[in-house]
Amino acid sequence: MKPSVAEHIASIVPYPPGKPIEELEREYGISGSIKLASNENPLGPSPKAVEAISAATAKLNRYPDGSGFYLRKKLAEKHGLPFESILLGNGSNEIIELIVRAFMSPGDEVMIPSPSFLLYSLVVRWMGGKPVPVPLKPDLGIDLEKMAEAVTSKTKVIFLTNPNNPTGKVLGKRDFEAFLSRIPQHIVVVIDEAYIEFNTNPDTIRGFDYIGEKWPAIIVLRTFSKAYGLAGLRIGFGAMEPEIAGFLNRVRQPFNTGSLAQAAALGALDDDEFMNRSRELTWSGLQFLYKEIEKMGLSYVPSEANFFLIDVACEAKKVYEAMLRRGVIIRSMASYGMERHIRVSIGLAEENLRFITALKDVLAAMGENDSAQNSKRLSGGVQNR
Ligand SMILES: Cc1ncc(COP(=O)(O)O)c(C=O)c1O
Repeated sequence: MKPSVAEHIASIVPYPPGKPIEELEREYGISGSIKLASNENPLGPSPKAVEAISAATAKLNRYPDGSGFYLRKKLAEKHGLPFESILLGNGSNEIIELIVRAFMSPGDEVMIPSPSFLLYSLVVRWMGGKPVPVPLKPDLGIDLEKMAEAVTSKTKVIFLTNPNNPTGKVLGKRDFEAFLSRIPQHIVVVIDEAYIEFNTNPDTIRGFDYIGEKWPAIIVLRTFSKAYGLAGLRIGFGAMEPEIAGFLNRVRQPFNTGSLAQAAALGALDDDEFMNRSRELTWSGLQFLYKEIEKMGLSYVPSEANFFLIDVACEAKKVYEAMLRRGVIIRSMASYGMERHIRVSIGLAEENLRFITALKDVLAAMGENDSAQNSKRLSGGVQNR
């Protein structure tokens, strides 16, 4: 007898993560590949985090501090927020799940910009809710006006991503405040700031400024996975009104963040040198890649994050596969509904160069293929006549 699975679970397409280097090399029998697919930090982890991990290993026989006291205290001080406002998560992904679990019931609606981070709608579907995608504006910014218009009595949570993944676009202050003034205060508004450390636009919002009495149901998400280089450890945090944190705490596993992850995050917060290097590498990498893409006659979407979108003017899936064969892992945006776009994360200078060289190669080969097929078609036509 087969176990029965509810239809809302059976119909889910699992999250497609960036292909790991090891998997690619196993499948293709190649080595020396590079991964520019998951917006990771190419510099490696923060050295201060690694040092802190070594020191913390002696206590691995003990359960972690489930309340994450020292890390929450340091985060609260750093961001000028009350200690009770901070909630730790096994990556910010876990907090996305806690939010949906706490505030949405089966049949409720959760509004999501589209395209945006794929996990939001997956989590909503896991829990029997209805994701309501709101298409981006033609300039690929989040359409806050359309989102405000789409609110119904069933809307429980609204996800906003700043900068957005996959576009790298940010939310402006005026638009965001106009949006907020139209949103009923019982709706939870999440501002996912996974990439905010890379932002250079002075007009964008800083989610922490909105936590408080005026807009009680704002939750800001941050992560140590990107600018701090700790994606493998799984640690992130949310900041919100203490009462909201109290609700999320009710649905949180008691030891959701490990002791090494907490120690590493504490170390990383002191590593200004690493943070500055991460930012500078990203900004110089973006400038280099923009210029190269322009020289190739392609268009791109300027980004405030550590990745950006390129319109490859042909089928992105094919470009993705051909790049894989050359040992370069990027993302096709087909699963985000953008058939001609690829997303590339900023790497080390030599990785960026390798990406450009491989892309030129791939597009040239695809062009040759196309013209060979065209001429075949043409000569075929002549023969048929
Ligand atoms: C917008 C956004 N939020 C959250 C995450 C996940 O972060 P974490 O590693 O903290 O779970 C990602 C990762 O790609 C992301 O793009």
